Amino acid sequence: MNRKTEYWPADRASDGIREAAAALAAGGVVAFPTETVYGLGADAGNDEAVRRIFAAKGRPGDNPLIVHVAASEEASRIAREPNEAERALMGAFWPGPLTLVLPVREGAVSPLVTAGLDTVAVRVPAHALARELIARSGRPIAAPSANRSGRPSPTQASHVREDLDGLIDGIVDGGPTGVGLESTVVRVKDGIIHILRPGGVTREQLLLAAGGLADVAASSEGPGDGEERGPRSPGVKYAHYAPRGEMVLVSGDPDKLPAAVLAQAETAARQGRRVAVLACSEHAGLYGEAAVFDCGPRGFPELAARKLYASLRECDERGFDYIVAEGYPETGIGAALMNRLRKAAGGREIRVP
Ligand code: TXA
Ligand code: MG
Repeated sequence: MNRKTEYWPADRASDGIREAAAALAAGGVVAFPTETVYGLGADAGNDEAVRRIFAAKGRPGDNPLIVHVAASEEASRIAREPNEAERALMGAFWPGPLTLVLPVREGAVSPLVTAGLDTVAVRVPAHALARELIARSGRPIAAPSANRSGRPSPTQASHVREDLDGLIDGIVDGGPTGVGLESTVVRVKDGIIHILRPGGVTREQLLLAAGGLADVAASSEGPGDGEERGPRSPGVKYAHYAPRGEMVLVSGDPDKLPAAVLAQAETAARQGRRVAVLACSEHAGLYGEAAVFDCGPRGFPELAARKLYASLRECDERGFDYIVAEGYPETGIGAALMNRLRKAAGGREIRVP
């Protein structure tokens, strides 16, 4: 499949939205910005259009897609009545980076979107361009992240181009995304909120918003979770967000991190590898020889989250084949950040006591 990919720069965003909406309505696949990462959208009701998303991404067919709607009220077009706790979450976080897995309204979306499940993942993005595009298309829009499967998600239009130029109909450039990590995916079951994928809305925020209507399950997705521990996301089993180089995560006591990171970096450098370190601002000056990506202060994981995927892509581009990443505290968005770092590292983690 080779096609010309239309590109609408930010200063032509309104033309872009109009033309991109028409393309979506006609069964096209178009990338657009959201507040989390860029999405690759298609009409969720059109089998052929949805099939083209999977083809362009090289995505396995058993990994269902999130359906994006322009406003909360539209969710009822595709999902059945939410319960009280789900309504509380919608009220608190929509528009925003929360995806709710709900019972699907039969026939409302292509079975390819749900990968044959009886649930559908729904969200209302907080990005104005995204909502305008969806509203103008007049359709619920299925949209995974706009990267080739397995690659870091795109946080800039240039990332989408790197991965998908010639494979999709168009790209609406809305500048860099704000959150930088994907939405939090949750399923509410028997008064418990299960976090299927940590993301832009934090566990702490969920608890607060649920206001006693539901509790948040102790463990979120991850190896070892599973059938007996409640619902999970099909996507969780796939390797994700990985740079081409080998990556290791070093986590634990912040005072002891630098020595452990340095040991990793020096061993790899002695083996002739090109080493990059993803470090917090406090430690960025400690790694002399290695190329250092300053990810921001330890106390502000929001910045590390925003920069992560671009840093991983830059590591690939500059040919770093060994990446050592410092861990961050797992509170707030730090939980989602650490989830993505672990996946990017393929589970290679050194914990300093
Ligand atoms: O921030 C985001 O969520 C971005 C933007 C574009 O909205 N989208 C995104 O989509 O990250 P994607 O396809 O990369 O990830 C969707 C996740 C996958 O882990 C998938 O398995 C899960 O949501 N998912 C989708 N439908 C589901 C369902 N019915 N039940 C359980 N998990 C589901
Ligand atoms: Mg993705």
